[in-house]
Amino acid sequence: MDRRSAHVREVIPGARTAAERADGTVTRTCAPVAGAELSGGRGTVRRTRWILALLALTVLLVACSKTAPQNTMNPQGPTAQTEKNLLVLVLWPAAAVFLVVEGGILLISIRYRHRKDRDRMPPQIHGNTRLEIGWTIAPAIVLAVIMVPTVSTIWELARQPADAMQITVEGYQWWWGFRYTDPDMTVSYGDHDAIVTADVMVIPAGRTINLSLTSLGGGAHSTSGVPDHEVIHSFWAPQLFGKQDVVPGETNHIVFSADHPGLYFGQCAEFCGLQHGKMKFRIRALDEADWQRWVANEKQKALTSTDGLAQQGMDLFFGTNGVGGQCIQCHGVGGTEASSTAAPNLTHFAATTHECFAGCDFETFNPDGTPNIEALKAWLRDPNAVKLGAKMPDYGLTEQQIDALVAYLYSLK
Ligand code: CUA
Repeated sequence: MDRRSAHVREVIPGARTAAERADGTVTRTCAPVAGAELSGGRGTVRRTRWILALLALTVLLVACSKTAPQNTMNPQGPTAQTEKNLLVLVLWPAAAVFLVVEGGILLISIRYRHRKDRDRMPPQIHGNTRLEIGWTIAPAIVLAVIMVPTVSTIWELARQPADAMQITVEGYQWWWGFRYTDPDMTVSYGDHDAIVTADVMVIPAGRTINLSLTSLGGGAHSTSGVPDHEVIHSFWAPQLFGKQDVVPGETNHIVFSADHPGLYFGQCAEFCGLQHGKMKFRIRALDEADWQRWVANEKQKALTSTDGLAQQGMDLFFGTNGVGGQCIQCHGVGGTEASSTAAPNLTHFAATTHECFAGCDFETFNPDGTPNIEALKAWLRDPNAVKLGAKMPDYGLTEQQIDALVAYLYSLK
């Protein structure tokens, strides 16, 4: 095929001239057809400017965050630190390759751009054996060099120390459940099952944790017995560890620890349905004394409040007087007949460490530490109105019933 004629002949819509041929193409002359190319060129320039301005604005706005609690470049534990080291190590060769390739493209585009007084195509070079071999071998060498630290980091992070504390992470639509499966982390009542929490994973600072990640459907609203809510999630707390897929029927692992006591933010990083973007969680690392206190409290069964309104809420929760009883279909409350695991465990809903609920979409407490009653009321009034797609239905509760349930839930410390 005559490449040259294919390059030279091109369609210029809306600018047909006397040179137009029967097939709708024109012979390219070096004097541009008035109007057609010029207006297109200006439009492109304007669009490019807009895109560049938007990009710059985005970068600027991102930089505005003072706290940036999910900054990968600010690791707070050995796992995140190891991952950052690898990232930085690979970043330099990647930046060099970027500069060479993009610089070459820019240089050649400018040096050999079309000029008015030039009506011939420049010489076309292809099939140059030396060049072909060169740009095949060069990337292969770069990749081979990068592979060494990458593979050794993967092996290092995959190691599971025998003395690590075991926690199972369960992904649901759209919240996270945490099950403490070590023998000394069982509750003090019933069948001495594992301590279970939702939304906030509490850990002892400095201790190595081995997470076993899996995705569960809950099954509360599955149709025809098929667990239709089992989807793939991804567990990610940028300051402590990178992303790991959470797959139904599989168990993946993350081994990590937090250097210091503190609060670390995380979220789901794999599209898993309507509320994927708000499937958040927090990791609260405690010092040894606070950790022991937390464990001792979690081992206790749920409190039974003597407050009248809270007792009404409890009756409603369990359907004691023939009214209500929907809550225990899905939620568990330690030491009671409510044992379902389909929805977040509420045993210590109002413990100070349980600082957020419903996928950490809402704060359990106001900044001054008082119960965030309005948020919980709005949630009970119509979960879907405040969290679109939430699996908890609107039970048409009256305001009085909502007040009672709120009083009960905030008695669970
Ligand atoms: Cu779970 Cu996205």
